[in-house]
Amino acid sequence: MSIIGQGLDRLDGRMKVTGGARYSAEHQLPRLAQAAIVQSTIANGSVASIDDSVARTLPGVLLIMTHLNAPRLPAPKPEAAGTGAPPSAPAPLLQDATVKYNGQPVAVVVADTLEHARHAAQALQIRYASKPAVLGMHAAKKSLRTPPPRRPGEKTDTVRGNPVGAFSESGTRIDAMYTTPIETHNPMEPHATIAAWTGDELTLYDSSQNISGVRKTAAKTFGIAPERIRVLCPFVGGGFGSKGSAWTHVMLAAMASKMTGTPVKLALERTQMVGPVGSRPMTEQRLRIGAARDGKFKSLMHDTVSSNSFVLDFSEPCTTMTKMLYTPEHLQTTQKMATMNLGAHTYMRAPGESSGSFALESALDEMAYALKMDPIQLRLQNYAEKDPDKDLPFSSKSLRECYRIGAERFGWARRTPEPRSMRSGRMLVGWGMATATYPANREESKASAMIRADGTALIRSGTHDLGTGTYTIMTQIAAEALGLPVSKVRFELGDTMQPEAAGAGGSKTTASVGPAVYAAAKAARDKVVAMAVADRDSPLHGLAADAVNVDGGWLMDRQRPDRREPMVAVLARHGGAPVEALSDEKPGEERKQYAMHSFGAVFVEVHVDPDLGTIRVPRVVGVYGIGRLMNQKTGLSQLMGGVVWGLGMGLMEKTEIDWRTGRAVNANLADYHVPVNADIGSIDVSVVEEHDPHVNVLGAKGIGEIGIVGVAAALGNAVYHATGTRVRDLPITLDKLI
Ligand code: MOS
Repeated sequence: MSIIGQGLDRLDGRMKVTGGARYSAEHQLPRLAQAAIVQSTIANGSVASIDDSVARTLPGVLLIMTHLNAPRLPAPKPEAAGTGAPPSAPAPLLQDATVKYNGQPVAVVVADTLEHARHAAQALQIRYASKPAVLGMHAAKKSLRTPPPRRPGEKTDTVRGNPVGAFSESGTRIDAMYTTPIETHNPMEPHATIAAWTGDELTLYDSSQNISGVRKTAAKTFGIAPERIRVLCPFVGGGFGSKGSAWTHVMLAAMASKMTGTPVKLALERTQMVGPVGSRPMTEQRLRIGAARDGKFKSLMHDTVSSNSFVLDFSEPCTTMTKMLYTPEHLQTTQKMATMNLGAHTYMRAPGESSGSFALESALDEMAYALKMDPIQLRLQNYAEKDPDKDLPFSSKSLRECYRIGAERFGWARRTPEPRSMRSGRMLVGWGMATATYPANREESKASAMIRADGTALIRSGTHDLGTGTYTIMTQIAAEALGLPVSKVRFELGDTMQPEAAGAGGSKTTASVGPAVYAAAKAARDKVVAMAVADRDSPLHGLAADAVNVDGGWLMDRQRPDRREPMVAVLARHGGAPVEALSDEKPGEERKQYAMHSFGAVFVEVHVDPDLGTIRVPRVVGVYGIGRLMNQKTGLSQLMGGVVWGLGMGLMEKTEIDWRTGRAVNANLADYHVPVNADIGSIDVSVVEEHDPHVNVLGAKGIGEIGIVGVAAALGNAVYHATGTRVRDLPITLDKLI
């Protein structure tokens, strides 16, 4: 039985629950000083004066760093986020007095203890010269801009045929505006950095989804070679996209460490997690669908405006899935940015697809009602057999099976389509569904493998485990390739001294790092096999290498399994030196020949109180085609977590900005609502059997994000079915129903 796919328990689970797993803020260094940031209280303008006469006399204070004394950095070259590359110098780093958003770091205080640092930070007297700020969609929409394409060779906007004309000639039309709010990632572990210089070498302990990206950004920021910088991050307590970039606090910690000549820790407080480390943009999405009587789409138009900040350009790519999911005769998609005085936006779990699918899949439900057609049938009428955007076949697509199996598991056939037609006691019952999709991304990654004389193996790759199961599945992949039991294999990650791996974003860790781990492990195993068949003292001497199977630490003749010897015997006869191999695996021509996506179908049941408008979600069914599942337990847990995210997005999540001041008023986990166990009923997630020979050697398409896609739409569709009220503005709260 294959080791890959088994529901192995998390190998790092025991360390996590016993406190053995060290997170970024928990590393101990000699003479470690503590830093606190001071944030602006205006949204636009400049720092007029800073009075530190009291603060600098307070106990323990080592440094007060402001734009007046901060080290001068090489001029930053801002890059767009959302392109895969981390933004360089993503926000102002105390290089001048300018303030671009409320909450921008304007000073860093370093002291011997955290209490001293915070006390002195509060004692700083800062006066501002305030200017009128651009705040809110209405104001920001006066100067819209089109973002650059996400990748070279792509286009931001799409037009196929004559969508406006075809829309006006369509028999049945939907034209609706959907809106989604700013959301904040709020991982359990707040961002934290420890920075330490030794001469001109910098070490960073940073909670990150992209350690090599942090290294590159720091190298650019400080004008030094990346080799001078080491970034370590063995554990991450959740990231969801906010830890895909190196934000200001990382560089400020390094600058403060340089100035004080001592290691500095800068751990953000929960309230500081809103503003300086990214958020999901708010969106306004106009969806127009024109259909024929049989449900075939004549025209599909998706026009999006998303909020943006003056700090860094970022556009929520809502239209990505609209281009490829269905087969309208005529198509239009547009993306615009409305720039305002807010902290930077960035990628947040399923950037684009999660918010875009709310609009698209809600509009499809509205069309299904307009046509009096079953929503699954409508989707099947417009099913894309190949990618209509790239004009390429899919490497694999099991969406039909997802619809069919999902409908079966949910009991969809028992649904009566009229709104308010189903009840449970006095509760209104609603059943809704939506499609999910997410691209199967992949990037170059490297790994090393070493088989030691004692029969254990060490595999290393500078990747990340965000709580997703990377440690566990990479160990499984390596064990399978090595022919060793899992207990003999150790996998290490989270250090830029290790072979470089892709950032953990875009659901691509398994598809990128997995093949590298597999290749390095396989190469090391093959070396041992080669040693054995060339060795006169081996019972396998003279066999062709591919006639030898390796399993459970034994080398054996495939034809005569009794002809065998343990791996350790081969290594011992060769002086006991470890056998090592390196790999460097990257996507190839197959990416030009196939469109690669995961797909899924999600079904939601809601119970709505007819008097109070309260919504409960007793059950969700999600069925996904994601290629090969690496671990039954951690994999399904990823999908389930995505569904929970989707419910949070649909029912609760919203960063409330006071539009007079540009400050978030719910910058804490008490007022920013996310689902807790009591909010979640049964979540039945499963995957269909899918063999994709094209995506990568493992056949894995990535599962970190697809689970959230479509959930908010399926929920909104269920709420409409229950109540007859169509809510087009997230989150769907009770005030919108009564
Ligand atoms: Mo994800 S938003 O690509 O971490």
